[in-house]
Amino acid sequence: MKKIYISDVNPGMVIAEDIARNSIILLSEGNVLTAKDIDKLKKYGVKEVFVYDEEDFTMESKINIQFPELPPVVPNKKYKKWSDQFEKVIDITKLDQSDEQLNQISEDIYKSFLEKEDVVLNLFHNIGSEALSAHSINTAIISSIISVKLNMPFVFTNQLLKASLLHDIGYSLIGERVIFDYGHIDDKIVKSHVISGYNALKNMKDKISKEVIDAVFNHHERFDGTGILMKKKGDQINPLVRILQIGDAYDALIESEQTPYEAISYLLKQSGKMFDPYYVSTLFSITGLYPTGTQVLLNNGDVATVVKKGKASVFPIVNVDGEIVETGSNSGIYIKEVIKS
Ligand SMILES: [Fe+2]
Ligand SMILES: [Fe+2]
Repeated sequence: MKKIYISDVNPGMVIAEDIARNSIILLSEGNVLTAKDIDKLKKYGVKEVFVYDEEDFTMESKINIQFPELPPVVPNKKYKKWSDQFEKVIDITKLDQSDEQLNQISEDIYKSFLEKEDVVLNLFHNIGSEALSAHSINTAIISSIISVKLNMPFVFTNQLLKASLLHDIGYSLIGERVIFDYGHIDDKIVKSHVISGYNALKNMKDKISKEVIDAVFNHHERFDGTGILMKKKGDQINPLVRILQIGDAYDALIESEQTPYEAISYLLKQSGKMFDPYYVSTLFSITGLYPTGTQVLLNNGDVATVVKKGKASVFPIVNVDGEIVETGSNSGIYIKEVIKS
């Protein structure tokens, strides 16, 4: 991070430390600055701010800010800590020494979402994240949110988190990755990431539970029996797998540049086919039809961004130029269409 004068601050820069005046936080860490924010800081007499620069991000991949006006689902600092820990886990040669890291991330993710009643599923403006670690962490976050929503016991959620974090570890072993690996049942790389992940983990039964290892092996089975390898179906597939697949597919779709709306629509379309409908509906009850970050055109011609789910799944709360508007019959404002951003 670097400290710069307010006169050198430009829209798009990311705040690296909370900015406060008289104990009131004006802008918090992780916020992406807009021209309006900069004016506000000047008005409050802020002279210097800490902003992130690219070197702050361990992984050099592109800066990916999709929904800058929305808060991240977890603070960037925390997310980066998980990424750093996960980098140690993903190094399979050291996995037998890094089970402690795996325990720590799992527990931390679990605790982070335990108390949140109102989860804004905006995972997707994490900055500078290397694809596989971000995908694994995002899968774990979504799985955890579903599990907590269902009041599953900690022992279950903990296994689920580990399975989610490790599910694609095979890609790191083979050095290649298919991002959206749901439509390619005959793809050699997809098959081999399942097998090599399983082979690497199966001798670690003293550190990683059998359920987690089996979940990694089965994560490409499908609810309707059309998966790869074992062709298991329905409740022959462990719930750990049926839940993690929801997070896995949702994040992989976002990574493949689908909008959150397209991702949730895909899950709904595949509900009862690829995915267990019960867990699809649990995620749907959290996100609504228009997940956070969806750009929409309203019936009055305004363009808005979905901030969070409203009382009904189809009437979200939206942001129109900084103003929060509740859609639905009370306001007479409705979504006319989704804009592909
Ligand atoms: Fe996979
Ligand atoms: Fe995956």
